[in-house]
Amino acid sequence: MATHLLDLQQLSIGEINDLLDLAQHYRDGGPLPDCSGAIVANLFFENSTRTQYSFQTAEERLNMRVISFVPETSSLQKNESFYDTVKTFDSFGVNALVIRHSENEYYNDLVGHVRAAILNGGDGTGSHPTQSLLDLLTIRQEFGGFEGLKAVIAGDIAHSRVAHTNYDIMTRLGMEVVMSGPKEYMEDRYPYEPFDEAVATSDVVMMLRVQRERHPDGTPFDPARYHREYGLSAKRAASMKKGAIIMHPAPVNRGVEVADEVVECRRSRIFKQMENGAFVRMAALVRALES
Ligand code: CP
Repeated sequence: MATHLLDLQQLSIGEINDLLDLAQHYRDGGPLPDCSGAIVANLFFENSTRTQYSFQTAEERLNMRVISFVPETSSLQKNESFYDTVKTFDSFGVNALVIRHSENEYYNDLVGHVRAAILNGGDGTGSHPTQSLLDLLTIRQEFGGFEGLKAVIAGDIAHSRVAHTNYDIMTRLGMEVVMSGPKEYMEDRYPYEPFDEAVATSDVVMMLRVQRERHPDGTPFDPARYHREYGLSAKRAASMKKGAIIMHPAPVNRGVEVADEVVECRRSRIFKQMENGAFVRMAALVRALES
């Protein structure tokens, strides 16, 4: 049986801590397993920089052999389906399939029909498990744990798989999580807090990009107004608690959800999140190949 990583709800808190420990072990320069016999196919049907290439970095650090799928030059252009494309790579005998796709829970059609382990690199507005793991590792490095911390996740909550995954796992880990941003981007199932109040009282201020590619065509958007009302300006960042940190899954639209000068300020852990990404993905790949 392959050990898929589809979402974090499938993992116990103990399993999540084990993955974070393994990622930290790799980050600290701990010995690596011999994975030179493994072949991994990275199948990104939706655009990606961080997830796709940090998985590739992780695979190369582990001496795996990597197939990077290019949708634009593939037989998708001859109307081959998503399912048949994935089945094709599985039939080659690869050990793991790293998949990103715009459809929520795309993996339900695949589980039970592929031999390789599936690692979810993001499904629509559903889940982004390795992003959440790298977010958790970054928070744990900063605060030593999770219990009792408060986080605000601010921005386009409705379209964010990062927000959905992080809310679930952070609350399971004993954090208080509130959402903030324009009311039209909120979801009733989550607690809401006004933006300035949430920024000033949280240990973790996690900003999100407005995912305009998921909005209906023609939806109006004024970046300057958005920044004025919901952007993390230098003034707002200065109101944050002592020791509080700024996070963002990226890509960042500088000057929209986060001011340009705040992206790399002393409170920002945005590029540290990216550093942690490759180590978390190494841990996720090793777990997937253990079975
Ligand atoms: N954070 C994240 O998933 O970035 P990419 O879309 O560039 O992979």
